[in-house]
Amino acid sequence: MRGPAWRALLVVLALALADAAAGRFVVEKNSIQVTSPDELKGKYECAIGNFGVPQYGGTLHGWVEYPRTNRKGCQSFDQFDISFKPKKAGGRPNFVLLDRGECFFTIKAWNAQNAGAAAVLVVDDKSEPLITMDNPEEGKEHLENITIPSVLITKKLGDQLKKSAEAGDMLSVLLDWRESLPHPDERVEYEFWTNSNDECGPKCDMQMDFVKNFRGTAQVLEKKGYTQFTPHYITWYCPEAFVTSKQCKSQCINHGRYCAPDPEQDFSQGYDGKDVVVQNLHQICVFKIANETGKPWLWWDYVHDFALRCPMKDKKYTHDCASDVIKSLGLDVEKVNKCVGDPDADEENEILKAEQDAQIGHGKRGDVTILPTLVINNRQYRGKLDKVAVLKAICSGFEETSEPAICLSEDIQTNECLDNNGGCWLDKANNVTACKDTFRGRVCECPIVKGVKFVGDGYTHCEASGIGRCEISNGGCWQETRDGKTISACSNEVSEGCKCPAGFKGDGVKSCEDIDECQEKRFCQCKGCSCKNTWGSYECSCGDEKMLYMREHDTCISKEGTTATVGWSFLWVIFFGLVFAGVGAYAVYKYRLRSYMDSEIRAIMAQYMPLDNQEGANQQHHVAHADDI
Ligand SMILES: *[C@@H]1O[C@H](CO)[C@@H](O)[C@H](O)[C@H]1NC(C)=O
Ligand SMILES: *[C@@H]1O[C@H](CO)[C@@H](O)[C@H](O)[C@H]1NC(C)=O
Ligand SMILES: *[C@@H]1O[C@H](CO)[C@@H](O)[C@H](O)[C@H]1NC(C)=O
Repeated sequence: MRGPAWRALLVVLALALADAAAGRFVVEKNSIQVTSPDELKGKYECAIGNFGVPQYGGTLHGWVEYPRTNRKGCQSFDQFDISFKPKKAGGRPNFVLLDRGECFFTIKAWNAQNAGAAAVLVVDDKSEPLITMDNPEEGKEHLENITIPSVLITKKLGDQLKKSAEAGDMLSVLLDWRESLPHPDERVEYEFWTNSNDECGPKCDMQMDFVKNFRGTAQVLEKKGYTQFTPHYITWYCPEAFVTSKQCKSQCINHGRYCAPDPEQDFSQGYDGKDVVVQNLHQICVFKIANETGKPWLWWDYVHDFALRCPMKDKKYTHDCASDVIKSLGLDVEKVNKCVGDPDADEENEILKAEQDAQIGHGKRGDVTILPTLVINNRQYRGKLDKVAVLKAICSGFEETSEPAICLSEDIQTNECLDNNGGCWLDKANNVTACKDTFRGRVCECPIVKGVKFVGDGYTHCEASGIGRCEISNGGCWQETRDGKTISACSNEVSEGCKCPAGFKGDGVKSCEDIDECQEKRFCQCKGCSCKNTWGSYECSCGDEKMLYMREHDTCISKEGTTATVGWSFLWVIFFGLVFAGVGAYAVYKYRLRSYMDSEIRAIMAQYMPLDNQEGANQQHHVAHADDI
């Protein structure tokens, strides 16, 4: 008894949703810029497909090919011997232009990818506003293997491109996702609209895989304050007239207010829609309580552990199992239960009411109708729910240059450096490159290696600079070893450049040549001298045993002679100088002392008797006092 009952209810629920949301689905776009031919040059809009990997934050430049046959891309291009691989390695990639219709968008993308295309441009077959290409509900095992981006372009632009291609023009376009997400500040807010149901086929598997793979990254970003994440759950309501129907009773809680479809789409067996709503509510409450304790990231652990420990297939999708998981994460079960409330009560549940309100879009933000949906900085993410693709999208939501390190890590590399080193500077011998793979595409930037900064334009040259630069491939300078002696043109004392050391000449980079001091500098030309050039220096001998070569003055002097005599006489001068100074000082002292005492005595005696030579005595007295001062 599967068919009619659930179909009827799905229609009812869909109507209810459409009614509640006033149906406004926003088509997320990126820009497509035609760079040739000239008459089509300009910027156009295209809609990002909801599969594959759009290069959020980046660009992709390629040639456009319109296949001569299999133009809808519904068959493998192999059978027609068509390949879109670049003609030579490192060549600009090829995009393929395909017509809409006949098969799923994902089939077209899959066939194009297998034929080597780097992106798919699907041309709408109707003149209408752009729509979002979604993936089919039913499982297609290749879905998760689509890694190229897909976009839908308008019929108008498509017809022009096709015409141009058929006329034999070279078509070249730039796909640009840099403005697909707003990137206003240093924190990215994102939401994941999901579902606790683990039995809904590929979409549920995809959602669980995403939680499993992305959990670690999400937690790092959240703990460091780079992101603010909130989980969300879609619920529908049962129209008034059906509240007491069997269907609504099994799918809804709080008297038809919050509903979810039956997991197996069969009311008579397994879990019901209302069990899903209750588990969804648990998950929101876990987030709320975890957030209150300052650890919002515990939601990822809860959802992951719950799916693992309490799957529907083991009949463990229950309140008790949920409580065990909550407990093991150290969260307060009572608080969570209080938040969940009574599912049978005929009243609003604040939490679920808020979720229903949040489903409805506003401003540039569309309604959330596809499950799962990721909303990043208030825009819906389109593309594969894949760890790297999503991280790329989140990274493109940071204000430029404020991206956390994780955005520039190897995880997210585009491998553009593998091809021809991305056109950047490369020092093959030392395995140092300026090519840096980032989520925004490759950049040519002189690197920092072992703490040593390279400077330069990054394309044609980079050069080690500053302290320690000589440790790295000798700072790019010349260096040579002969007879165990190493001479280098790099010096850590200067911060850049190479200079041949004394005794050498040259540019210091490619070579330094020994200077022949004997010939070129005409050193050691004194009478009887003999000169011998050595590597980096020279030797000079004076011929006469008694002579000594003075390198500074390039001259020979007598070994015994001048220097010794000069030395001794100098000492004698100092010695006699000191003696004379000492004697002189003593004499002066003696004389002074005596004349002082004389004058004092005279002064005292003068008080008792008149002296015959008073004037002279007074003069002496005056002088002595003046000397005292
Ligand atoms: C998709 O990729 C997986 C893992 O790389 C592989 O096992 C699987 O066979 C692929 N599916 C298809 C349809 O190519
Ligand atoms: C989580 O907590 C933060 C700060 O405590 C708060 O700003 C934010 O609104 C909370 N989020 C939810 C969904 O409650
Ligand atoms: C060069 O360095 C990279 C990473 O630093 C390493 O993966 C690669 O194997 C190195 N290649 C050679 C030839 O040493």
